[in-house]
Amino acid sequence: MERIAVLTSGGDAPGMNACIRAVVRTAIGRGAKVFGVWHGFDGLIDGDIKELNTMDVGGIISRGGTILRSGRSERFLTEEGRAQAAEQLRIHEIKKLIVIGGDGSLTGALKLSREQDVHVIGAPGSIDNDISGTDVSIGFDTAVNTAVEAIDKIRDTAYSHDRVFVIEVMGRRNGYIAVEAGLAGGAEAILIPEIPFSLRDVCDKLESAHIRGKRSSIIVVAEGAVSAYNVQKYIQDETGFEVRPVVLGHVQRGGSPTSFDRVVATHIGAEAVNRIAKEARDEMIGWTNNKVSHISIEEALSTERKVDPARLLLADVMAQ
Ligand code: F6P
Repeated sequence: MERIAVLTSGGDAPGMNACIRAVVRTAIGRGAKVFGVWHGFDGLIDGDIKELNTMDVGGIISRGGTILRSGRSERFLTEEGRAQAAEQLRIHEIKKLIVIGGDGSLTGALKLSREQDVHVIGAPGSIDNDISGTDVSIGFDTAVNTAVEAIDKIRDTAYSHDRVFVIEVMGRRNGYIAVEAGLAGGAEAILIPEIPFSLRDVCDKLESAHIRGKRSSIIVVAEGAVSAYNVQKYIQDETGFEVRPVVLGHVQRGGSPTSFDRVVATHIGAEAVNRIAKEARDEMIGWTNNKVSHISIEEALSTERKVDPARLLLADVMAQ
């Protein structure tokens, strides 16, 4: 009987539980045994591995976070750490591993496969949506909806007090959350790491909007672009408007996944097992054009994913 392990790694993302559930139930349905690895790659190195049955994943589809816990393992960055992880898999007679995580986790998984001959399948799980080879990563939709809910609430108070709010969302290397949430929340400006910007231009926009009668504004910034506090100070000093910063932070990582994230995660988890059954390895299962897709992990990692600048132009037109 096939023995498969599953782990979650990197920053947690809503929908990871739905993916774990799909892996477990699909694998058991196909007659395999499934093992959960707790605490990501650190847990793999330490042999924190237990068999999962269908009841262990009951009621988790609606829960944020990951029942298996997650983390960023320093030890797994070393060849020695990866050798220890592989040894634990051998002890448990497991040859196949499903890794749910972001690009850093998939990079580690690919190294494990190449150095230790473990068959690895990746599932893109990250609120940042910065993984190529898939239209979305698990957790992105929920994070965007959380950010939009916050923007809507902040707009109420911004309006009441004639204030400018600078809302910082997550995204170290890209502005996917910022652009999506900014468009949906009707932001007057969106600042992201991929596209150069000038804070003076932002002030010009706010000043001309003020002349047209707009008394309150929302600026959404990705954390990797600039800090909300720096933007607040700059705009306040340059324009004299009353500006408040809000850093949304880890609230974006938690919460019950949207139905979209649940459905995508379920498809991806099930397909990961189906591909394992076909002896596929070093593949990432993605979600492309509304259905599951496969790409080699190497190819997915070789292209950097960047926001289409046209989306910012659209936001600009809407901000008039
Ligand atoms: O990669 C997901 C993410 O939430 C990023 O958006 C953010 O920059 C980072 O993780 C935060 O990491 P940590 O939870 O380790 O502070």
